[in-house]
Amino acid sequence: MATEPRVVERTPDGTSPRTYALNHLRPKSSFVGCSRISDYELLGKLGEGTFGEVHRARSRKTGAQVALKKIIMHHEKDGFPITALREIKLLKLLSHKNVLRLEDMAVEHPTKPTDKRKKPIMYMVMPYMDHDLSGLLDNPSVQFKEAQIKCYMLQLLQGLRYLHDNRILHRDMKAANLLISNQGILQIADFGLARHYDGPTPQAGKDMGEGRRDYTGLVVTRWYRPPELLLQLRQYTPAIDVWGVGCIFGEMLVGKPILAGESDSHQLDLIWDLMGSPTEESMPGWKLLPGGAHLSPRQRPGVLQNRFREFGNGAVELLKDLMRLDWRRRINAVDALDHRYFKMQPLPMEPHEIPKYEESHELDRRKFHDRKANLPPAPKGGTVGIGPDANGPTAGFNSNPTSADPDGREIGALPVDLLLLTRMNEAHEEAALHPEEVT
Ligand SMILES: Nc1ncnc2c1ncn2[C@@H]1O[C@H](COP(=O)(O)OP(=O)(O)O)[C@@H](O)[C@H]1O
Ligand SMILES: [Mg+2]
Repeated sequence: MATEPRVVERTPDGTSPRTYALNHLRPKSSFVGCSRISDYELLGKLGEGTFGEVHRARSRKTGAQVALKKIIMHHEKDGFPITALREIKLLKLLSHKNVLRLEDMAVEHPTKPTDKRKKPIMYMVMPYMDHDLSGLLDNPSVQFKEAQIKCYMLQLLQGLRYLHDNRILHRDMKAANLLISNQGILQIADFGLARHYDGPTPQAGKDMGEGRRDYTGLVVTRWYRPPELLLQLRQYTPAIDVWGVGCIFGEMLVGKPILAGESDSHQLDLIWDLMGSPTEESMPGWKLLPGGAHLSPRQRPGVLQNRFREFGNGAVELLKDLMRLDWRRRINAVDALDHRYFKMQPLPMEPHEIPKYEESHELDRRKFHDRKANLPPAPKGGTVGIGPDANGPTAGFNSNPTSADPDGREIGALPVDLLLLTRMNEAHEEAALHPEEVT
């Protein structure tokens, strides 16, 4: 058997990926270890999703405001959730101004002897950020200027480039997972679905090409899920995160999610409406993907140009590049940062020029909307507990993503146990493939 020629990959500063990682990742010594919850003064809940709770708190040592993300153990006997371990492990390594930093871990021991709970609760401690992007966009009094959108986009792409340069797929890019401070800084958060990938890092002027190995299919919240994933490509690449950036860009321009599908097949339909139905030219091989064989979408050219005309040619071009149906040729984070759009008038604002807004988080958002009615569908990112029996009747159901959503119901509306199972299966599947990553 012929062996593949070894591709020597080069990073932006010309070093090998390994040296780059060592130079750019966070030194171990910067992470001190574990505090007690009593080291923090709790100031109220910020978010309460299907899985997690995020609290606002103040460090009694430094006075800094922080966010505490609770690691929920649904089944104590199963021990510490594998997905949480992965999130913590990845976040501990990362250090970039546009990636949320894990500052500390805090532990809360059961207080009363009568407490049924035996195990301590663990919290991830992160700097407090005033908004998440989805909350900010939900605030009717907030109107983004184009120069401000450019500033956020550049920061988002810088954060994503850092992740991809370090061979990390985020796999849950969406507005709710982007945090924004009143200093105008944007940070990528929620590494609950993130993982290492095997493959080349993005290079200027070079396509991401084909993926090299299989990963689990049930990732990325539906509205931000790229067509190749909806068609069940398993050998995906960092291009899946880039599609999400396109959706987020569109969302910042129009003020609401641009592809709000109600089921996986509806999601694909909305994508074909916007980008045009797939052809051998626009998405070579789409028919051969597991989810493509039985599809014959109505022919249409795509309305992107028309729908985003008012934002000008530069914005339309960038959207087209980020949301290219062919994942092999979709723009990478390096080239997107260099896009013409960012050099056109109005030029991007500097973060400090961005106006300050009233804080907005999941719970605050109920001020503006009935959030319950407005929950985005998700294989929810974040830190989840281990679900029931891994070998039970529904085990492995995520091997076919569409079966997770048989009636076109929102995945977010599935029973929690089923969702947990999804996450558990994904974690187990990958733990089996990459045992070193979860130990
Ligand atoms: N560091 C933080 N500062 C302020 N709010 C935060 C912070 N981290 C998370 N949040 C809020 O909590 C929500 C959920 O956090 P996230 O890490 O995305 O967990 P989940 O897995 O539950 O989605 C975010 O969408 C945001 O509104
Ligand atoms: Mg999240």
